[in-house]
Amino acid sequence: MMRAVLLKLSESARLKRWVTARKTTRRMSRKFVAGEELDDAVAAARASNSSGLKVSLDLLGESVTNAAQARAACDSYLRIFDRIAAEKLDANVSLKLTQLGLDIDEALCQELVESIVARASGYGNFVRVDMEGSAFTERTLNLAKRVRAKTPAVGVVVQSYLRRTESDVPGLLAAGCRIRLCKGAYKEPPEIAFPAKSDVDANYIRVMKLLLPSGIYHGIATHDPRMIAATEQFAAERGIGKDAFEFQMLYGIRTDLQRDLVCRGYTMRVYIPYGRDWFPYFMRRLAERPANMFFFLKNLFRG
Ligand code: FDA
Repeated sequence: MMRAVLLKLSESARLKRWVTARKTTRRMSRKFVAGEELDDAVAAARASNSSGLKVSLDLLGESVTNAAQARAACDSYLRIFDRIAAEKLDANVSLKLTQLGLDIDEALCQELVESIVARASGYGNFVRVDMEGSAFTERTLNLAKRVRAKTPAVGVVVQSYLRRTESDVPGLLAAGCRIRLCKGAYKEPPEIAFPAKSDVDANYIRVMKLLLPSGIYHGIATHDPRMIAATEQFAAERGIGKDAFEFQMLYGIRTDLQRDLVCRGYTMRVYIPYGRDWFPYFMRRLAERPANMFFFLKNLFRG
């Protein structure tokens, strides 16, 4: 119930203005967001790299409303790749297609993604296309496959809460796509997404078992110790090496588990978001865990 309310509120422009204007809430957002500038993200990435963690940088922003905004986001992503190379960071980039105009002009979006993937490829780097709400699933998967057919330095995300995911995966694997598997963070109706957490988790394990034996390097993105244990156990049973896939977690969440997996010889990538448009991302993180909401409210009324 609270999850649904928070996800609905994440779309409210009024609440966004109120929350992002406040010093207290901006400070609180730092629990999950590295900062508002690229320099903040670079500093967080450097600190993560020095603890043995790989990184994926995400410039926060989604649902642009005109082509100029999409082009500006594209330019920012090109600059991020230049900066990663200049700073010699062990980092790739995650981006959202609605930030690059998917919902206003799909051809423009594809052109922009192609230019970003070409820049990444020139540096021997990689672009991960995040997955957004179900209105964009089909278009996101298809666009990523089309771009990948030209330049392979791009992968996508699938969400285990979606009923369709298990049947999407074989096509993506046949196209050679590197996949990040996550549970899914948006508000979806029961016809589209499993309402029960037990079904989302069971599907996560089913999809993980499709991904790992594929011979393609995938990302297992979760903070859930049960999903991690199931992955470790399946990989051990199948003789799949620790270097054949990576675990991924979000900045600021379960840093103890992140360190533990690195100590045990796994590759761990931390997703580091930054930028001024942090409100929807922050609300999705609050929605994932009631304790985060209580922390937020407690500090809000203190500050
Ligand atoms: P689950 O929600 O069951 O949580 C398991 C445990 O993890 C909790 O008990 C708690 O300990 C901890 N935890 C989880 N979320 C927390 C939080 N917000 N604060 C504190 N503790 C928390 N989604 C999407 O729809 N599209 C995408 O592209 C991505 N990309 C992505 C990248 C990466 C690297 C990760 C790790 C996640 C995503 N996600 C995402 C988000 C994902 O779909 C999901 O919402 C969160 O990862 C939470 O799900 P868990 O798998 O962690 O399990």
